[in-house]
Amino acid sequence: MEIRGALVLRKRQVLIIFVLLGLSQAGPESVRYSVAEETEIGSFVANLARDLGLGVEELSSREARVVCDDNEKHLHIDLLTGDLLVNEKLDREELCDSTEPCVLHFQMVLENPLQFFRAELHIKDINDHSPTFLDKEIVIKISESTIIGTTFLMESAQDLDVGSNSLQNYTVSPNSHFHIKIQDSGDGKIYPELVLHRALDHEEEPELRLTLIALDGGSPPRSGTTLVLIKVLDINDNAPEFPQRLYEVQVLEDTPVGSWIITISAKDLDAGNYGKISYTFFHASEDIRKTFEINPLSGEVYLRSHLDFEAIQSHIINIQATDGGGLSEECTLLVKVIDINDNPPEVTMSSITKIIPENASETLVALFSVRDQDAGENGRVVCSIQDDLPFFLKRTFKNFFTLVAEKALDREERPEYNITITVTDMGTPRLKTKHNITVLVSDVNDNAPAFTQTSYTLSVRENNSPALHIGSVRATDRDAGANAQVTYSLLPPLDAHVPLASLVSINPDNGHLFALQPLDREKEPELRLTLTALDGGSPPRSATALVRVLVSDINDNAPEFERSVYEVLVPENSPLDSLVVKVSATDLDAGLNGELSYSFSHVSRDIRKTFEIHPISGEVRLKALLDFELIKSYTINIQAIDGGSLSGKSAILVSVVDVNDNPPEIVITSLISPIPENSSPDMVVAVFSLRDQDSGDNGRMVCSIQDNLPFLLKPTFKNFYTLVTESPLDREKRAEYNITITVTDMGTPRLKTEHNITVLVSDVNDNAPAFTQTSYTLSVRENNSPALHIGSVRATDRDAGANAQVTYSLLPPLDAHVPLASLVSINPDNGHLFALRSLDYEALRAFEFRSQSYQYEVCLTGGSGSNEFKFLKPVFPNILESDLGRKSERSSTFQNS
Ligand SMILES: *[C@@H]1O[C@H](CO)[C@@H](O)[C@H](O)[C@H]1NC(C)=O
Ligand SMILES: *[C@@H]1O[C@H](CO)[C@@H](O)[C@H](O)[C@H]1NC(C)=O
Ligand SMILES: *[C@@H]1O[C@H](CO)[C@@H](O)[C@H](O)[C@H]1NC(C)=O
Ligand SMILES: *[C@@H]1O[C@H](CO)[C@@H](O)[C@H](O)[C@H]1NC(C)=O
Ligand SMILES: *[C@@H]1O[C@H](CO)[C@@H](O)[C@H](O)[C@H]1NC(C)=O
Ligand SMILES: *[C@@H]1O[C@H](CO)[C@@H](O)[C@H](O)[C@H]1NC(C)=O
Repeated sequence: MEIRGALVLRKRQVLIIFVLLGLSQAGPESVRYSVAEETEIGSFVANLARDLGLGVEELSSREARVVCDDNEKHLHIDLLTGDLLVNEKLDREELCDSTEPCVLHFQMVLENPLQFFRAELHIKDINDHSPTFLDKEIVIKISESTIIGTTFLMESAQDLDVGSNSLQNYTVSPNSHFHIKIQDSGDGKIYPELVLHRALDHEEEPELRLTLIALDGGSPPRSGTTLVLIKVLDINDNAPEFPQRLYEVQVLEDTPVGSWIITISAKDLDAGNYGKISYTFFHASEDIRKTFEINPLSGEVYLRSHLDFEAIQSHIINIQATDGGGLSEECTLLVKVIDINDNPPEVTMSSITKIIPENASETLVALFSVRDQDAGENGRVVCSIQDDLPFFLKRTFKNFFTLVAEKALDREERPEYNITITVTDMGTPRLKTKHNITVLVSDVNDNAPAFTQTSYTLSVRENNSPALHIGSVRATDRDAGANAQVTYSLLPPLDAHVPLASLVSINPDNGHLFALQPLDREKEPELRLTLTALDGGSPPRSATALVRVLVSDINDNAPEFERSVYEVLVPENSPLDSLVVKVSATDLDAGLNGELSYSFSHVSRDIRKTFEIHPISGEVRLKALLDFELIKSYTINIQAIDGGSLSGKSAILVSVVDVNDNPPEIVITSLISPIPENSSPDMVVAVFSLRDQDSGDNGRMVCSIQDNLPFLLKPTFKNFYTLVTESPLDREKRAEYNITITVTDMGTPRLKTEHNITVLVSDVNDNAPAFTQTSYTLSVRENNSPALHIGSVRATDRDAGANAQVTYSLLPPLDAHVPLASLVSINPDNGHLFALRSLDYEALRAFEFRSQSYQYEVCLTGGSGSNEFKFLKPVFPNILESDLGRKSERSSTFQNS
């Protein structure tokens, strides 16, 4: 739309006022030639080229042509010689009628640049017409009383020739009554008058026959004749009389045929037949007779045919009124024709260029003339074309116009213009003539081809079949014909390391692209090609675009591990999730086909429990602790699988490195405890073995116990040791030993294991009870109550258990005269002494007895007070056995060992 907007033109209207001028009014600049009428076709008139100072060769290159003003092809120019030649027989009378001189205006038109030369050709008359009378016979009635010298106007003859060839003289055949007198009307016309020079006598000669001869001035002269019949009448006194000699009337030129125009009326004083008037046209030309008619009785004048202002502006009609007696009188009727706008303007195309090249500026499209035969406003014309066209009208001279392209045209925008030239006159009503011109804009190669995209990306799968159609490109060219014929080609990429021609080709006609052979994405993932489109113009125009051929992947490569075997050393006991190794494989394919997933392949449950592999990162980590002592190496088969299910294999050889992770172990195989206190040295107390699951120094051990103990460690066999006593033990001194066996390995760090054993020393009865005093003296009042507690004794024993269980008893005194048993008793368990009956001081005064403790006999002597110990045989009273049952058992075990 905006382009159209730019094209909107200023209103272009050329207003010209021109009054139709006579062709004779040639400008002073005109060149003038003459030729006789009726000259043969092809006759030479003049050499125009020479006369105009033009080179002969210019004539044809500039398309010289002769254009006559009436647009008839009267003349033509010989382009080879520049001669102006007669193109048809020129009839002066037809061209100019009575107009003299007869001038034919013409111009020679030259193009590139447009040039006009005005010229005029005078057509010379030749005597090719004879004078003629309209009537072959003229009847004149003349009264016998007519006096000598009376003149009678005769009908004039006509000669179409002009000048000296026109009518020049009249004569009459020899007779005795009349001679001819020539009357000059003053406007160049002559009329013959018969002059009576001898009186007529009706009775003598009632009629006369004369021959009227018309002569022209040609050489030789031509002549025409008519018969004049003169009837000699009897006398008639009064002739008809017109009230006026001149009638004048104005008539519109479009007045319909048959219309009444005017009524002419004359009077005659005579009565009867001599007073009857009849009206006729007198000396009327053929034109007038064709155009008008008069009613002979009423004198009404009617129109017989159409008036044409453009042909004749006024008619002069002589009307004669004749009475019954033959007397006549003449008057003149002047009919003025009033112009009406009855002629539309006329457009005459002199030349048209129907096809103009699109980028030529100010091209001349047409040369034409306009004409309106009406006069005044009716003949004033306005000439225009449509507003919205890139053309304008230019007046060249007079009524000639050129239609010129305003600027260079663009065929791609608009290939065709329908131009309507409208010519309107200013009359009422306005008359309008339209002339259509179709101008075609021819193509010039002013548009380069244009690709539909600046770059094309095509999706080809690698390993394609050869000659595969991989896509199409298209360029359009706004020009037409060969200028729009696009041819495609490919330019090799600048940095090509693969010869393009072997890979991709293009169909030059339709832009279809083909892959010539299988493409390998891994080698050449993308081809960048420059595409050229060339049109068929001269010179051709071109466009380029980029083509990217992306080779898409197929899974034609299997994953490959960096190494066929990964060998790794892993310290045992590495923490969980420790990285063992990171494996990595590569796949040349792209996308999913190159996406790898790592996994174990055919591995034992043990390996699955111990290791895990990350499917993406390829990191192999510990899932469980490694134990060198259990498994020293693993072989893990691994695989990498790409998205297209191709796989690559490798293996990981994991060697577990030993770490001092096992403390020594002590296994007591036998332990003897308690051991009797008086056992001999070197007695085996414990047997144990040592073990360390580590290897090397980590498994070498040293074994020890505390220094200050009466025990020794002795290695026996392999890793077996015995713990033996160093010397006899004394339970009463130390009844229990806590022995810590310490085993240390030689690894780093040193690992140590302690094992506590408790060795009890069992008792042996190697100590006798001992009284707290060697002798006890008790005082008792005589006559005491029976069973009186009189005191206590106590003995202790350093042994343990039953060996330390003391039982008390009393021994009768050796010299006893009183049975002791009836006097004193002792509680065997606690040594309490009781007086069994009342004692009689006088009888007894004092006595002495012995007490005996269990196991050992203790003698208590009373009296003098010295106590003595005496070891007797051990006694095991039966009464005590139940009390000491359990201790006895232990003791027995003790003793038995
Ligand atoms: C016309 O004709 C007559 C008779 O032939 C002659 O005498 C006369 O000179 C002529 N007139 C002219 C003007 O030629
Ligand atoms: C011009 O006129 C012709 C004939 O009337 C018609 O076929 C054509 O479409 C017209 N072109 C334009 C541009 O109006
Ligand atoms: C001129 O063109 C106009 C518009 O296309 C059309 O209406 C008219 O009839 C044409 N006139 C002639 C004489 O072909
Ligand atoms: C018209 O176009 C042709 C081809 O592009 C060019 O050679 C010529 O100079 C142009 N003429 C003008 C007047 O622009
Ligand atoms: C031996 O160890 C035991 C238990 O730890 C403890 O009760 C006892 O007193 C210890 N004996 C010696 C002599 O250290
Ligand atoms: C062994 O005995 C020592 C000393 O009494 C003590 O410190 C240690 O904890 C004991 N070891 C074990 C394993 O009972």
